[in-house]
Amino acid sequence: MKKALITGVTGQDGSYLSEFLLEQGYEVHGMVRRCSSQNFSRIEHIKDKIALHQADLLDQSSLEALVRDVQPDEVYNLAAMSFVPASWTQPIMTSDFTGLGVTRMLEAIRLVKPSAKFYQASSSEMFGKVKSEPQNEQTPFHPRSPYGVSKVYGHFITVNYRESYNIYGCSGILFNHESPRRGIEFVTRKITDAVARIKLGVQDKLFLGNLDACRDWGFAGDYVKAMWLMLQQDQPDDFVVATGKKHSVREFVSLAFDRVGLNYEKYVEIDPKFYRPAEVCTLCGDASKAKRVLNWEPDVDFNQLVNMMVDADLQSLQLNAETADYSQNTQTGWECGDDANFVVYATIPARLFNYFKNASGHRVIARRRRA
Ligand code: NAP
Ligand code: GDD
Repeated sequence: MKKALITGVTGQDGSYLSEFLLEQGYEVHGMVRRCSSQNFSRIEHIKDKIALHQADLLDQSSLEALVRDVQPDEVYNLAAMSFVPASWTQPIMTSDFTGLGVTRMLEAIRLVKPSAKFYQASSSEMFGKVKSEPQNEQTPFHPRSPYGVSKVYGHFITVNYRESYNIYGCSGILFNHESPRRGIEFVTRKITDAVARIKLGVQDKLFLGNLDACRDWGFAGDYVKAMWLMLQQDQPDDFVVATGKKHSVREFVSLAFDRVGLNYEKYVEIDPKFYRPAEVCTLCGDASKAKRVLNWEPDVDFNQLVNMMVDADLQSLQLNAETADYSQNTQTGWECGDDANFVVYATIPARLFNYFKNASGHRVIARRRRA
């Protein structure tokens, strides 16, 4: 049985990749960093099928110990500070973790298990101020954020370890990929979450930044397969992974509101605080090499992706209404109460009645079972 080690296993991609590798019959090991409160929500459903190990990309000896303990055949380096705006407010940490962290992992492999195959999660952000369109493996980089700069470093150090030490290292230059598991601060999920809340009457407005930015958006579940395929080849190489189609943030917003029968223009407002010091205005990938060599193509298209994410947010908000702790929610006028079996935090406002009807048709309350 092959062993895979995934850094960033608790993230969006880590969760889909774990599922995929389990399906392929792998023994899956995930690296998690120590936190005072762990967030395993994306891997809760598979937690008993994977082995979790504490280590940190900032700590060399923890990485060497990890590789020594696991003896992986394949290492997927997905951990990173991945939110672009935060890289301007924490540029040193971003460089240390997202950039130098790649060298630390590669050093651990070189010193402990040089036969392990290595996947580096590189990014279309490296193209930044794009030199040509669409972007492929030959397109020059011009990163526009400390995050993008760190990813360029991670890309070239991977190439360098391949050329210097013969490590099987691949850099996957992935364009934006999304899913219902996407972090809430990224624009797609921010939009679909807001659409669901606005539809259900618990939010009034959605504040966004640059609606004209264009991205090549795909589905994360499709993209993790490309990561794996890169490590199954005879020779290591670098690949662009993308859909080849670009859409603006405005198109995403418009389609997402359409899905619930609303006009986005009534709800979306611009807040300049979401503008970036230097914007990546447009990205569109040419994944023909991945198609030719890996036989990889995406299954989910843009419309399906938007609908999938809106539907998932609507569904999870409806489900959560019965179990959520709304005691902090003063904004929507939730009422508080109590009964024998449950601590009752809120009743659903009458205007939401149709969405939150429970099985017996009664008005649902937000509550938590008494301990
Ligand atoms: P994500 O959801 O933000 O997940 C990031 C992961 O990195 C989380 O598991 C996080 O752990 C972990 N991490 C952060 N800081 C860490 C530290 N100091 N030590 C150990 N682990 C740490 O990101 P994603 O969307 O899955 O993306 C996966 C990778 O692909 C990232 O490297 C990202 O930059 C890259 N990428 C993503 C896209 C995209 O569109 N999604 C495109 C191109 C490249 P915690 O749970 O502890 O925070
Ligand atoms: N986050 C955010 N919030 N972005 C907004 C907003 C907003 O309110 N309004 C407009 N945008 C625009 C941003 O200016 C950007 O041009 C675009 O939406 C996409 O932003 P994000 O969803 O935050 O993603 P990203 O493209 O910056 O970065 C993601 O993709 C990269 C691959 O190209 C991340 O996943 C990176 O980790 C990844 O490398």
